[in-house]
Amino acid sequence: MFKVAVLVSGGGSNLQSIIDSISTGYLKDVSIEYVISDKGDAFALERAKNAGIKTLVIERNAHKQTLSEEIYKVLKGNVDLIVLAGFLSIIKGTLLEEFKNKIINIHPSLIPSFCGKGMYGLKVHEAAINYGVKVSGCTVHLVEEDTDAGAIVLQRTVEVLAEDTKETLQKRILVEEHKALPEAIKLFSENKISVAGRHVIVKE
Ligand code: GRF
Repeated sequence: MFKVAVLVSGGGSNLQSIIDSISTGYLKDVSIEYVISDKGDAFALERAKNAGIKTLVIERNAHKQTLSEEIYKVLKGNVDLIVLAGFLSIIKGTLLEEFKNKIINIHPSLIPSFCGKGMYGLKVHEAAINYGVKVSGCTVHLVEEDTDAGAIVLQRTVEVLAEDTKETLQKRILVEEHKALPEAIKLFSENKISVAGRHVIVKE
């Protein structure tokens, strides 16, 4: 069994897409061992509980400097992949070193555009619309110390329409996120991913 931990801070629609991909059989021999939230009131926790997944809250405010260390203590030796699905805290230290190339994040733009510190939620889509890009999308990438800076695993594009608002664009990109994240997990679980510097190589 390929064991995954999902880290969340909010609504958890991406978590739901992983749960659903396991139920439909798209993800085979994959199990979500833990859902860890840095916020006690994240709706993602309800989704996890409904699916019978072990949940854990490690409050961001109570563990400002030690959050990554606390997560590491729980996950050490227990999972093959850590998935950040709308997780808003920074991952650092031993957790990052020991899970090198085994932590992925999903970001709602085509990295390297509209990403980095402070770029989350509707701000991303607002920036894309203000810039006037004709396509945006989502990116699954490896996690490194710098925000949204790791090598790209996969991207999906979405056309930006003249009438788009940040909300409508967010909604359409989310639909693609819900395909991209399970797809990336599938590639990892089938051992089809190797990393050479900034390049993630996907085996056929
Ligand atoms: C998604 O847009 C994801 O790309 C970003 O945070 C959002 C989380 O949404 N990192 P949800 O909590 O999965 O619904």
